Amino acid sequence: MPKPCLWCRALYATVLAWVIAASASSIPRYAVVSRYNPVRNASSASTPMQVGNGFFAFGADVTGLQTFQPWAIMSDWGWKNDSLPEGVTEEDILTYRGVVWDGVQYEFGGPAAPQQWLISNPNRANLGRVGLLFRGADGHFVNMTEADLSDVHQRLDLWSGTITSSFTVQGQTVIVETFAAQSSSAVAFAVYSDLLAEGRLGLFLDFPWNDGSQKFQAPFVGYWNETTNHTTELNTGSGLGMNVHAEINHTEVAATVFASIGGGSPFSISRDSPTAHRYSVFPATESSLFSTVVSYSLAPVAAIPNVTEIAEESTVTWDAYWSSNGFIDVYTGSTDPRADELQRRIILSRYLMRVNEAGHTPPQESGLVNTGWYGKFHMEMFFWHSCHWALWNNWDLLNRSVDVYDRFLQTSIERAQVQEGYKHGARWSKMTDPSGRSAPGEINELLIWQQPHPLVFAEYEYRATGSQETLERWRDVVSQTADWMAAYARFNESTGVYDLGPPMYVVSEDTNPNVTRNPAFELSYWRFGLGIAQTWMERLEVEAPAAWSEVADNLAPLPVEDGLYAVYEGIETDFWTDPTYTNSHPALAGLYGWLPATANVSVDMAIATADKVWTTWNVSNLWGWDFPMLAMSAARMGDRDKAIEWLLNPYFEFDDVGMPVGGAQVPTPYFPGSGGLLYAVAMMAAGWDSSTEAAPGFPSDGWSVRTDNIERAI
Ligand SMILES: *[C@@H]1O[C@H](CO)[C@@H](O)[C@H](O)[C@H]1NC(C)=O
Ligand SMILES: *[C@@H]1O[C@H](CO)[C@@H](O)[C@H](O)[C@H]1NC(C)=O
Ligand SMILES: *[C@@H]1O[C@H](CO)[C@@H](O)[C@H](O)[C@H]1NC(C)=O
Ligand SMILES: *[C@@H]1O[C@H](CO)[C@@H](O)[C@H](O)[C@H]1NC(C)=O
Ligand SMILES: *[C@@H]1O[C@H](CO)[C@@H](O)[C@H](O)[C@H]1NC(C)=O
Ligand SMILES: *[C@@H]1O[C@H](CO)[C@@H](O)[C@H](O)[C@H]1NC(C)=O
Ligand SMILES: *[C@@H]1O[C@H](CO)[C@@H](O)[C@H](O)[C@H]1NC(C)=O
Ligand SMILES: *[C@@H]1O[C@H](CO)[C@@H](O)[C@H](O)[C@H]1NC(C)=O
Ligand SMILES: *[C@@H]1O[C@H](CO)[C@@H](O)[C@H](O)[C@H]1NC(C)=O
Ligand SMILES: *[C@@H]1O[C@H](CO)[C@@H](O)[C@H](O)[C@H]1NC(C)=O
Ligand SMILES: *[C@@H]1O[C@H](CO)[C@@H](O)[C@H](O)[C@H]1NC(C)=O
Ligand SMILES: *[C@@H]1O[C@H](CO)[C@@H](O)[C@H](O)[C@H]1NC(C)=O
Repeated sequence: MPKPCLWCRALYATVLAWVIAASASSIPRYAVVSRYNPVRNASSASTPMQVGNGFFAFGADVTGLQTFQPWAIMSDWGWKNDSLPEGVTEEDILTYRGVVWDGVQYEFGGPAAPQQWLISNPNRANLGRVGLLFRGADGHFVNMTEADLSDVHQRLDLWSGTITSSFTVQGQTVIVETFAAQSSSAVAFAVYSDLLAEGRLGLFLDFPWNDGSQKFQAPFVGYWNETTNHTTELNTGSGLGMNVHAEINHTEVAATVFASIGGGSPFSISRDSPTAHRYSVFPATESSLFSTVVSYSLAPVAAIPNVTEIAEESTVTWDAYWSSNGFIDVYTGSTDPRADELQRRIILSRYLMRVNEAGHTPPQESGLVNTGWYGKFHMEMFFWHSCHWALWNNWDLLNRSVDVYDRFLQTSIERAQVQEGYKHGARWSKMTDPSGRSAPGEINELLIWQQPHPLVFAEYEYRATGSQETLERWRDVVSQTADWMAAYARFNESTGVYDLGPPMYVVSEDTNPNVTRNPAFELSYWRFGLGIAQTWMERLEVEAPAAWSEVADNLAPLPVEDGLYAVYEGIETDFWTDPTYTNSHPALAGLYGWLPATANVSVDMAIATADKVWTTWNVSNLWGWDFPMLAMSAARMGDRDKAIEWLLNPYFEFDDVGMPVGGAQVPTPYFPGSGGLLYAVAMMAAGWDSSTEAAPGFPSDGWSVRTDNIERAI
């Protein structure tokens, strides 16, 4: 039985180097991270253990592969279209327009079939499945279940991004190491067992039919029994890329994905049956080690990395991630018993964000674990998914996706000016695919709080660089964003102020859009965003359009009811006790917390409003980023105990591997909870522009808070 050590030697070297280099740093980073290495002795029914790189991730069951559970292998690039429904033509799709409300063309309603196709296409595909297969001593396949394993132990080493899984089956030990490439969409496995040499252990590869008809597919994605809807073909001949010993192409409608296998031990591969898409892989030599790489791509590749290269890349990249960039230690030295759990959430969120949420497009709500909203992403959620990267100094990761604002600028200008008839600006989409196309939908078209987000991302980058290059790079996005914000605000002749809406949807998406006017949160965010845009132009030494200050200075006052802010102007006075309005995102608590004090917001009234939210909102129905948002308001108003309580609220759960549990509203995982947690914790630990004390969001009693390379929030 050889000792598994593909990655441990590299790890040893890097950790040693780090220990020597970091003796100056006071935070024992390695000790804090490795304390939370997840351990399992059985598969979870709801979440995989994952390896990945932000744009590609592999979900493992307790065998380190997908032997018993078809967890997903997903990416930011693997999408497909369903075929068009009967009677719908390409022309119907291209000419779909929706309805006109008050002279404005919106993409919802209208012909139902093209609308539904556009909502659910393209959809994100599960690229495949790789598992162990077993043969008995007689050479016949044995259909194992997880119950046939004993001595099961699985551990994720966060510092190297490696899962090590071990168990006994058929009387023999099996050890599996799993790691992901960091610069390509590949996963590597090393399997150690005497069963291999006896020809009793191999791998299978399978490919699902990804069907776009379901909004959510969780915990598993795709159909494994629908074998006639798609095709696979095996190529072991000549012309394959370097290290590639077999290539399987998988075609679903018009989309083809290539799986390239090799870069490790020699093997034989065969298709199980001509009608299924399952392939069996067996070692070609007698050895108790079998290793291989499976790499996924949109075209045949010239080369794939080998197993050693992937192991090293994983170790080096994760080591660098943990050793440099931001770090927060609230565990070492704290006596408050809650510190351990908060630290666990921080460390596991840092791991899962880098595995699931560092792709080239904004992340979907469930990252790369399963699909929701057909795998599309939501531009209003981009702040909660990804802004923490700015506070934790992970510009390398944030930069992969944040230029979507450049990529989507043209289509957003067209949305604003051609489709909706505004004279100026770019209107950012909500539910979106990688081409920038917006999914039809009343909420998708009428939501507005995604609009100021790019101004916040731009501002954070400028705070980090102070460079002319940053000012120039964001210039068009800042201008077009603010232009539309000014154009959208409508001058009201009778009140003499600029109104937001109607029609519009607020953050909580639970009001009638036709009567929603001047919502408190959106008014403040508008003023805040326009302020950033004006400052941007001052820095560039160009004159900002007069419309920006005209609108910012003359926006409607925030709606007030009985000395408290109201969701929008004219909402029922008893909305505080009406479940219609108290079951979703409590953005009123964001007025002073998520946002800094902005003009026209009375801090006292904002604090009283947040207090009222705490006691009236249906907390059991809240989910994800609501809790960090509430923590941020508690922190900013000086209620440090409450800030901690919100982050550890029983309805804000993280499972054993750190997956944020969806709660009453959405499937697990719901990653805006993790992104929000990291943003809130950074703010509570490093402070915000107007804070004056150290760790202003943590109680001074019982908490020791140390930060390294964390930026202050605005
Ligand atoms: C498996 O893990 C669970 C939960 O961590 C624990 O309660 C149980 O004792 C473990 N079982 C074995 C056989 O180690
Ligand atoms: C899906 O269809 C749209 C619209 O026809 C097209 O622009 C896009 O490239 C297609 N995407 C995929 C992944 O096939
Ligand atoms: C293998 O076992 C599983 C679980 O018991 C069962 O669902 C499946 O039908 C079996 N497959 C075969 C080919 O016997
Ligand atoms: C298989 O494809 C056909 C044609 O596209 C479609 O009607 C059918 O629903 C698909 N089956 C599944 C399970 O998606
Ligand atoms: C595949 O499985 C699903 C879910 O169990 C079932 O609804 C469907 O009919 C099956 N399809 C085939 C072709 O057996
Ligand atoms: C898939 O592979 C087969 C066998 O090599 C080949 O004939 C076919 O053209 C490939 N399909 C695509 C879409 O590349
Ligand atoms: C993997 O690739 C590296 C770099 O090309 C090479 O040095 C090494 O020998 C290869 N390892 C194996 C096992 O092929
Ligand atoms: C990425 O972010 C940094 C901020 O540190 C910036 O200086 C750099 O230009 C950015 N790169 C790209 C390609 O946007
Ligand atoms: C102007 O504001 C008032 C008070 O909010 C509102 O009732 C009225 O409908 C607004 N006028 C227009 C044209 O929107
Ligand atoms: C909003 O107004 C539009 C058109 O003016 C109408 O079709 C729609 O039914 C209204 N919605 C509600 C919820 O009142
Ligand atoms: C909002 O604040 C601005 C800037 O301080 C001020 O000019 C304006 O009068 C205020 N508007 C309202 C409605 O309070
Ligand atoms: C509060 O949320 C829970 C959980 O979703 C739900 O069951 C309950 O009906 C909600 N209560 C009210 C008053 O809406």
